[in-house]
Order: sequence, then structure tokens, then C-alpha cells
Amino acid sequence: MYLLRRLTEEFYLFLRPMLFYFTRKDPEKAHDLLVNASKFLRKTSLDNLLLRYSHDKKNPQIEISNAAGFNKNGEIHPQFLRYLGFDRVVVGTVTAESWSGNPRPRIKRYVKKESLVNWMGLPGEGVDRVAENLSAHGSHEVPLTINLASTPGKTGNYLLKDLEKTITILKYLPYIDRFELNISCPNIADKNYYLIDLKDIIKCANENKSSQELYIKISPNLGISEIENICEACMEFGARGVTISNTTELIYSYGGTSGNELYSSSLETQKLFYNFLTKNNLDLDIIACGGINSLERLAERKKYGANKIQVYTPLIFKGPKLLRELKIA
Ligand SMILES: Cc1cc2nc3c(=O)[nH]c(=O)nc-3n(C[C@H](O)[C@H](O)[C@H](O)COP(=O)(O)O)c2cc1C
Repeated sequence: MYLLRRLTEEFYLFLRPMLFYFTRKDPEKAHDLLVNASKFLRKTSLDNLLLRYSHDKKNPQIEISNAAGFNKNGEIHPQFLRYLGFDRVVVGTVTAESWSGNPRPRIKRYVKKESLVNWMGLPGEGVDRVAENLSAHGSHEVPLTINLASTPGKTGNYLLKDLEKTITILKYLPYIDRFELNISCPNIADKNYYLIDLKDIIKCANENKSSQELYIKISPNLGISEIENICEACMEFGARGVTISNTTELIYSYGGTSGNELYSSSLETQKLFYNFLTKNNLDLDIIACGGINSLERLAERKKYGANKIQVYTPLIFKGPKLLRELKIA
């Protein structure tokens, strides 16, 4: 069983140059291939055979989930992602209405830098479709987080109503025990969230959810006053913590950068956040996200308060081997 996992990991690394070559004009096609492969492997139970491995239970484990954007509409079966190595699955960003996002291609791959730039613009099939997809998966072993935002274009009360709709439809579905509010998408034109008080957004989510924990996903380019405001809003309206971070728009002018090149800014924001929490004796969780591609980086993120991590871009470059190696931390 374990041997097959190792072979699958090596096979991915062997396949990767061809995969990157044939999808170089539209890297999103590689993701489409993954979605289709996951469906086939789940249907035939081959995912169990090819991907499963035993976790080392002796070591204290840090929760690892995929980051948002990897399973936008919940189309990848959570059990497949469990076999791949995730302890939790993040679905979304989910919006109340369907939204096409920007025209393709909308991702660029920088292979040597092990980074991606995306200007997706929050495409999604809308909450009704996501609910159908998740219900169709049936039973599995994985807790789910819903990452959500309002449909681009909504402002003021319409924005809050939009969030309310998404939460109301999803809150009673099984396995969903966490909501993550995406207030940091760098590539939507109107940047709704800067027009409305963060407190109103957190309050709205808190009042409409059921027993789920609430997290806020933030940008990697924040100053200390913004961090103070976020902490204050989280404490006042019952958010459990923050995910640090989304992509950064400060490296390439045309989109949000993820992966290796994001690591340092994401870490610096985490340090600011952690120092603020420690200084003020505040109890908020930190989920670290952004360029975590090695055990050393995982250890660094843990040192500055992270007790959970999320991974997306490093998985594309390192393959499933990365998830197994991070488990040994
Ligand atoms: C193609 C792509 C699409 C993404 N879509 C979303 C999204 O819909 N919502 C969100 O909150 N973050 C989204 N992200 C950001 C990731 O969730 C994550 O915060 C970021 O990529 C940093 O982590 P990484 O370096 O492990 O990729 C997306 C990232 C990529 C590369």
C-alpha cells in the first residue's frame, strides 16, 4: 500500500514537465485534469490504493488543509483529498450567485520560482450548486470549511444579504464545521469589502451561522493598524481566528501571487499578528497559508503561533510527496 503511494509521488514528478508543457498556455487546464482524474479514481476506489498511507501517529500533528480556490465548487470528493494527505477540506470561495470571473487564461505559472499568479476574479457556480455537489458526495471522513465571500458587484446591505444566503443554505449540511470569510481577494474589480465595516461582515456571519467556527482570511500586505482593527472585530464578534494569508498583488501588477514568492510577506504579516496577540494576551487561532513548501517553513510558521496550515501552490510544484513529508513535522 505504502509502496504504491511512493510510486504515485514519483510518477507525479515524472509527469510534471509534460503536464506543465501541455498546459502552459492555460494552466487552469491542469486543474481541470486533476478534477477529472479525482472523479475517476474515487469512482473506482483506486485513490485508496494509490494514495493512502499511514500517518505517523506518534508525532503531534498539525492540521493540514487545502487552501481556497483548489476545490472551488466542492467538485473534488473530500475522501480523495483525505487520501492525498489533507486532514480538512476547504471548499470555495463560494458566493451566493454564480459568477464567471475573468476570461481564461487567468493563471500564469512561474516554474523556476515555484509560484503562480492568478487573476481569476472569484469564479464560482453559486451556493445552490455547491450544496448539491457536497450532498452528492455522501459520507466520508473529512471535516469541511466553507470559504465564502459576497458575489462580486454587491455592496452595502446587498452584500450582507448575499453572505447570509450562502451561510443559511450551507450551515446545516453535514461535515461543515467552519466558515472562512474571504475579505482579501486581490483580483475583483470593486473590492466590496473595503466599502463596508469589517465588524458588520463578521457580525452578519456570526448571527447567521449555526455551531461552525468562524475564521477571517486576510491579505499578506497589512500594517499594524489594520491588524489591530481585525483583531478587535474578531474578538468583539466571536471569530475564532484568522487565515494568513491570501495572495499578494505587490509582486506582479496583473494578479495575486502565491507559492514560493509569497512566503516572506505572508510570514511577516503572521509575525506582526502573532506579536500583537501575544502582547495583548488575545486568544485567536492562526492558520498559516502561503508558500509552505518544506518542513523548515512549517516549523517557522508554527514558531509564530500557527496551529493549522493550508497549502495550494506548493502542492502543484512538489506533488503529493509534500503532504506526506509535512505530516512528519
Ligand atoms: C488559482 C488560485 C485560485 C485561488 N482562489 C482563491 C479563492 O477563490 N478564494 C481564496 O480565499 N483564496 C484563493 N486563492 C488563494 C489561496 O487560497 C492561498 O491563500 C494562496 O494561494 C497562498 O497559498 P499557497 O502559496 O499555498 O498557494 C487562490 C489561489 C490560486 C493559486
